[in-house]
Amino acid sequence: MKKLFPIAAVAALLTAAPCHLAQAQAQSQTQNKAQVYFTRDISPEGLLKVYKALGVEAKGRVAVKISTGESMKSNQLAPELIAPLVKEVNGTLVECNTAYGGSRFTTESHRAEIAKRGYDKIAAVDIMDEEGEIRIPVADDKWIKYDIVGSHIQNYDFMINLAHFKGHAMGGFGGVLKNASIGVASANGKVNIHSAGKSQHTKPNGDLQAPAGWFVSPQKNTPFIESMSAAAQAVHNYFMQREGIVYIDVMNNISIDCDCDGNPHKPTIQDIGIAASLDPVALDKFCLDRVMNLPQDKNNDTKALLERIEQRHGTRIVFRGEEMGLGSTKYQVVDLDAQPGQTALDVIFSRKSVRTYADKPVSDEQVETLLKAAMAAPTGMNVQPWRFVVVRDQAVKDRIAGRNRMISKAPVAFVVCGETQLKNGQPNKNWTADCAAASENLLIAAEALGLGAVWTACYPYEERMSTVIEALGLPEEVKPLCVIPVGYPAGNDKPKDKWKPENIHYDKW
Ligand SMILES: Cc1cc2nc3c(=O)[nH]c(=O)nc-3n(C[C@H](O)[C@H](O)[C@H](O)COP(=O)(O)O)c2cc1C
Repeated sequence: MKKLFPIAAVAALLTAAPCHLAQAQAQSQTQNKAQVYFTRDISPEGLLKVYKALGVEAKGRVAVKISTGESMKSNQLAPELIAPLVKEVNGTLVECNTAYGGSRFTTESHRAEIAKRGYDKIAAVDIMDEEGEIRIPVADDKWIKYDIVGSHIQNYDFMINLAHFKGHAMGGFGGVLKNASIGVASANGKVNIHSAGKSQHTKPNGDLQAPAGWFVSPQKNTPFIESMSAAAQAVHNYFMQREGIVYIDVMNNISIDCDCDGNPHKPTIQDIGIAASLDPVALDKFCLDRVMNLPQDKNNDTKALLERIEQRHGTRIVFRGEEMGLGSTKYQVVDLDAQPGQTALDVIFSRKSVRTYADKPVSDEQVETLLKAAMAAPTGMNVQPWRFVVVRDQAVKDRIAGRNRMISKAPVAFVVCGETQLKNGQPNKNWTADCAAASENLLIAAEALGLGAVWTACYPYEERMSTVIEALGLPEEVKPLCVIPVGYPAGNDKPKDKWKPENIHYDKW
């Protein structure tokens, strides 16, 4: 290991100088918990943000390991998403050929697919096994006795393992551990892992062949899954003896099928975000936990993916990884969307009305966080009379905008409404106060997530209320208090200083 740098406290990570990788890895484990850096911002900027948060500089000749994907219908990472990161590290995109007769079985056909996807327009692309393969040692030899990887691995000093998190027909799911094992293995290396080291050189061309019943691994899939952990550790150790390796997992377009499937099932889970860690076990475990903890609702049909992970014993990859010392299944999340070191008071003092928005989506997860914050507000007699209408549809936004044109231009608008009657049929005199408390919580939460928002009035203006009531088809007893458009700030709005001691009286007017 060479050329390493000191790491700073979490709060300073975003601006910290790049650090010594081993030191970073040791220090990033707080009480045996690895750090996982997370943003909901699935964009080139979000990707750069999680990479920089790691506080480790990619040194020397940098390989960025992606999956080039089996077809244009597969869900591999888009070149536009990854281009700025690859440029930042002066990286070469690296891949290996597949072990099955698909579109990337030979170097020639694989290069044609790479050109179709446009990866060669953003960086040099290297098929690491096009000139052969080498064996690298495994630290855990329970199944495979060595890992077989593309020979060009020797041309690199540092690896960014840039994975796309999704399901996988044989492994249950694929994240950074699969990208390091199957992804870096040559075709023979893939056969070696799939068959848990049982393959022999029995093919006429001398290539490895799995014995009957061993390509799809027996014993509840465990030998295959555990072999992936061992191969991932081999690649990890290989780069840790050079300049290092870091791991990033993008959780978007999450299908139950892998990007190696040319005709994958359509994603049934909302996009989650991008996470990064120096610990591949912690990172895969974090992604698994995020998916497993999603609510089953109209945005998330996780059933098929979770069944697949369970049937294939997919989670074994992280627990075996932990057993062999590759990393920890216990982690601590550093939420990069909450500004580091930002306290509740910092957020309150930085809130301001924002009326211009960037052309950048607000995710379903962000919307849910804002709604949760709104519903955390106090209400008279704990009645919780609030009702929310989340508007993304352009035509509906245009109808409810009225003179507040910024509502039309925001990616999402929240209509905060109140049930004006109590259960006993009496009027709820608190509904405006209750909904105002919820609205303020939502505004503050938007600021905390790096978003911008503004309260636009409905109540008590009859005309304004009627426009909204008609556009949304609100029931008679439900009234709109306000509409809050939310988006990424595009202007230069600043908080106003409203501190006026003359507005305060002590004990007596
Ligand atoms: C009850 C209420 C109604 C408001 N209505 C509107 C509105 O219809 N349109 C608008 O642009 N801003 C509206 N605002 C935002 C205010 O103009 C803004 O909060 C105020 O100028 C102070 O600026 P600040 O929010 O940046 O601190 C409203 C705010 C409140 C609390």
